[in-house]
Amino acid sequence: MELWFLVSLACLALSQAAPPPSGRPVARAAQLSTDFGARVFREVTKASKDQNLAFSPFGVASVVAMLQVASGGNTRGQIKGALRYSLKERGVPQALRLLQKTLTDPRSKDVVEMADALFVQRDLPLVSGFMLRFRRIFHQMVKQVDFTERGRARGIINAWVQQHTNGMIQDFLQEGTLGAMVRLVLVNAIHFKGRWQLPFPEAATRQRVFHKLDGSTVSVPMMEQTAQFNYGEFSTLEHMGYDVIELPYQGEMLSMLIATPFQLNAPLSALAAVIDTQLIAEWKSNMSTVTRLLVLPKFSLESETDLRGPLEALGMTDMFDSQKANFSCLSAGDSLFVAQALQKVKIDVNESGTEASSATAAVLYARMAPLEIVLDRPFLFVVRHNPTGTILFMGQVMEPRAPLFLGA
Ligand SMILES: *[C@@H]1O[C@H](CO)[C@@H](O)[C@H](O)[C@H]1NC(C)=O
Ligand SMILES: *[C@@H]1O[C@H](CO)[C@@H](O)[C@H](O)[C@H]1NC(C)=O
Ligand SMILES: *[C@@H]1O[C@H](CO)[C@@H](O)[C@H](O)[C@H]1NC(C)=O
Repeated sequence: MELWFLVSLACLALSQAAPPPSGRPVARAAQLSTDFGARVFREVTKASKDQNLAFSPFGVASVVAMLQVASGGNTRGQIKGALRYSLKERGVPQALRLLQKTLTDPRSKDVVEMADALFVQRDLPLVSGFMLRFRRIFHQMVKQVDFTERGRARGIINAWVQQHTNGMIQDFLQEGTLGAMVRLVLVNAIHFKGRWQLPFPEAATRQRVFHKLDGSTVSVPMMEQTAQFNYGEFSTLEHMGYDVIELPYQGEMLSMLIATPFQLNAPLSALAAVIDTQLIAEWKSNMSTVTRLLVLPKFSLESETDLRGPLEALGMTDMFDSQKANFSCLSAGDSLFVAQALQKVKIDVNESGTEASSATAAVLYARMAPLEIVLDRPFLFVVRHNPTGTILFMGQVMEPRAPLFLGA
């Protein structure tokens, strides 16, 4: 028996499982965020091939939405094109806020916590009104830090991430992530903890064979139970058959959907390539209740994804370009660009349920301003007579030595 997991489905399902109480705008915000996240996921799977992968579509959609608020000109145009919505459209900011509120409803039995934070260099000149616009949309915290004290700044951000992921994500930004030119770090954190509506009996868990794509096998602990599940059989346009099973969490607001190709060696990427909210909605409406023996491995995954390539592949190239990036809606003083975009996700699945966390960040640098040029590496030099263009001397310095004064 073979099982592959699209772990991101757990997160996709966040915006799918329950019909949002507040109706269409929230549903549309959920769809737009999820579909964007799913497109990023697709790009990530292309790059990561057949590796384990855990991803948070909502996390990346949140951070890119934050960047949209900060951007202008062509940079904003590219972000809008990829997100397929503008935060300037009527009703969009309210819908996004309402969506976060709906997902994190404290009356639900499952725990979904989300937080956004903006860590900003203390003396960065911000465009007036930016904070107000930002707060209107995102449930976020703003903290001024001093990025010249790199170790301390990293410690502050990592502590915030750890706190908002229930300790699951530690050391989010590794040493060396924050260079001297950092001005701003945008972070989204999500934490989810849900108990299965039907827990797997612990005594039933035992070692079983798991088939890897390359034909090899491993023995892993698998949980099992016989129960009634929502189940459906589907096929892609290329006639690749797969089945989908739903595992609801207590409270029935959230569930994990697991999709597996029938054939042992069928590429999971064919499935990853077609997933979006519409397909998942179709799964949901075409599934029926059946009694089955379900065997599912316990698993724990930890992924770290560099989002730059995937985001660029979706057309967002200017924001990473120090010359072209336009974040003039955030700061008029410094020219900012996104130096890094990354996501860390951890998920644990066992007999009693699921715990998962993600942290997604964009790190914005100021374009190297020529106020400070430190020649702390080998350089070439030329002494030129300008009116004539004559070069009088030239050379290269590989290891500077203090001048020797003859006769001193
Ligand atoms: C940057 O964006 C602002 C606001 O949209 C715009 O007025 C400005 O012309 C843009 N700058 C460049 C260089 O494109
Ligand atoms: C779901 O069922 C409808 C109606 O039977 C069908 O048109 C549709 O293609 C099905 N969707 C999937 C994903 O199989
Ligand atoms: C499953 O994991 C959760 C933490 O996510 C833990 O609290 C719980 O005790 C674990 N259950 C079993 C049966 O191992």
